[in-house]
Amino acid sequence: MKPKVVVTRKVPDRAIELLAPHCELDVWPEEEAPIPREVLERKIRDADGLYCLLTDTVDRTLLDLAPRLRIISNMAVGYNNIDVAEATRRNIMVTNTPDVLTETTADLTFALLMAAARRITEAERFLRDGKWKTWSPMLLTGQDVYGATLGIIGLGRIGSAVARRARGYDMRVLYHATRRNEQAERELGVRYAGLDELLAESDFVVIMTPLTPQTRNLIGARELALMKPTAVLVNAARGGIVDERALYDALKEGRIWAAGLDVFEEEPVPTDHPLLSLPNVTALPHIGSASVRTRTRMAELAAENLLDGLAGRVPKCLVNREVADGRG
Ligand code: GLV
Repeated sequence: MKPKVVVTRKVPDRAIELLAPHCELDVWPEEEAPIPREVLERKIRDADGLYCLLTDTVDRTLLDLAPRLRIISNMAVGYNNIDVAEATRRNIMVTNTPDVLTETTADLTFALLMAAARRITEAERFLRDGKWKTWSPMLLTGQDVYGATLGIIGLGRIGSAVARRARGYDMRVLYHATRRNEQAERELGVRYAGLDELLAESDFVVIMTPLTPQTRNLIGARELALMKPTAVLVNAARGGIVDERALYDALKEGRIWAAGLDVFEEEPVPTDHPLLSLPNVTALPHIGSASVRTRTRMAELAAENLLDGLAGRVPKCLVNREVADGRG
């Protein structure tokens, strides 16, 4: 009998083509609506594998309902939506989709940085709203990117890819991470800084760290107060790392210049969210990895991980290696 796999959304055809010969698939067919929790709770009961997205919360309650589950394959690099410790305790493998999205996400991060610095979306709204009366010396002036100081919080795969892009703009790059990475310092020409020093010295602060209990609200009122009044904050990692209330106050009062946000504490962000009322916020709907090629590759990789796990092989992108080592 083929293993049963629940797929929580309409995913690219390529993933289904890979899975279908080996699994009995139960696919939630919607593209723009997450699977309702009660439906997932019903379907998971006899599932051997779960193919899910970052919009699905895989917590202890769900796992309690899934006695047969052997693998959870997340089609994302981040997996803060999954209780990995609880999965590990139950010998359930958890996989993600790193590497394939690195450059695409770094592209978007840099685009967001530039858009916030140069007020791109605000300027476009201005034009479309018929407000453009004449060329004017200080109209819609922003901040220079070329030659500025960039501070990257979290120098992992995507953070490093952002640092490589910054070289082309002749930027001085600082980074802060839990561990110093001397090899990266040599290869990327970046300099380690304490968090406070990075915040005080950077013209652009880019958050590129996963959301964990340690990084929740990492950037709050105290940290924002350390930043320059001309500084731009970019978050393309996860909502929850920045305290949105404190960010709103800092932006509203002009204590920092602007913010570029691809992620929010609550997603989709409510359209009446205070941050969206500010002209100096460039906001995007969590599209960091959203190129056709990369999303297709992520879908494919998530399918490969799932098939490996179900076949008893060690998946390429196993998050909880303890399970494969038999120590789960
Ligand atoms: C997207 O945010 C991802 O984690 O892949």
